[in-house]
Amino acid sequence: MALNVPNLKFHNGAEIPQLGLGVYLVKDKEELKTSVKTALEVGYRHVDTAMIYGNETFVGEAIKESGVDRKEIFITSKLWNYDHGYEETKAAFQASLDRLGTDYLDLYLIHWPSAHYIESWKAMEELYKAGKIKAIGVSNFQIHHLEDLMAHTEIMPMINQIETHPEFPQNELHDFMKQHNILHEAWGPLGQGKRDLLSQPVLVELAKKYNKTPAQVVLRWHVERGEVVIPKSVTPSRIKENSEIFDFSLTQDDMEKIATLNTGTRYATSPDDEEFLRKTSVRPQ
Ligand SMILES: NC(=O)c1ccc[n+]([C@@H]2O[C@H](COP(=O)([O-])OP(=O)(O)OC[C@H]3O[C@@H](n4cnc5c(N)ncnc54)[C@H](OP(=O)(O)O)[C@@H]3O)[C@@H](O)[C@H]2O)c1
Repeated sequence: MALNVPNLKFHNGAEIPQLGLGVYLVKDKEELKTSVKTALEVGYRHVDTAMIYGNETFVGEAIKESGVDRKEIFITSKLWNYDHGYEETKAAFQASLDRLGTDYLDLYLIHWPSAHYIESWKAMEELYKAGKIKAIGVSNFQIHHLEDLMAHTEIMPMINQIETHPEFPQNELHDFMKQHNILHEAWGPLGQGKRDLLSQPVLVELAKKYNKTPAQVVLRWHVERGEVVIPKSVTPSRIKENSEIFDFSLTQDDMEKIATLNTGTRYATSPDDEEFLRKTSVRPQ
């Protein structure tokens, strides 16, 4: 089925579908496989997973069972915090490939800027040059992390996957990434189902105006800002709903109304939370 999802271009010329399916916290095998297969049936061609989600194997199985050619599907996975380091990264990458049942990734990200990310990036640069990864990027990097990475490595990150929603639009980081040709990928694009974001009167009102749902209005707001969106849902009707965002656009006035929701407050962990980075860098025994 054709959804007319646009592709965005990385600075190396490779492309990423602007809409993907998120699978964070989906641990149940059948639930995961149903959501991936539903998304592929509806027309998604992009899945965002990570080693730490514990579901790469099921993602790989669902893709194989879907009958859709692997080459048509954009797969992202991520390097977890206790796998940092040059050799560790190469081993973790291969383990992700094995679990996913594929011999390359479309995108591999450093999940968080925990210690030794420069060494990890150097391994990723080599894997990229060897053609094992089509695009390399980071996640949860602040401006200072990006500046550090750019000062000490050869290849600029192609994308940064960061918490982004109307209450936390990341405007400063967004502008910095734009200047440096780093794509902005929004995680938690719907606010992770937290704090009743989707009940905000501004969004409810705009949903009525456009004959869409508040979730579709929010996802369209991301798309208008040039972001990649990876909404997660295990609900088939929502997976479809979240894909129906390329047949309308928001006026500048309405974009500004949504901008008034900015509180500058994250819902989730800060990438500058050293305690979190330290704790999650310890490999469980
Ligand atoms: N790089 C990182 O550190 C990081 C961190 C978090 C997430 N991520 C990635 O980003 C993806 C998306 O983020 P997220 O899963 O945290 O949050 P999200 O996509 O913003 O929100 C998911 C929540 O919204 C609900 N939902 C989905 N579509 C909806 C709709 N149309 N109407 C109402 N509710 C809807 C889902 O419920 P149901 O599933 O019950 O339908 C779920 O509770 C993740 O799955 C993961 O791939 C990355």
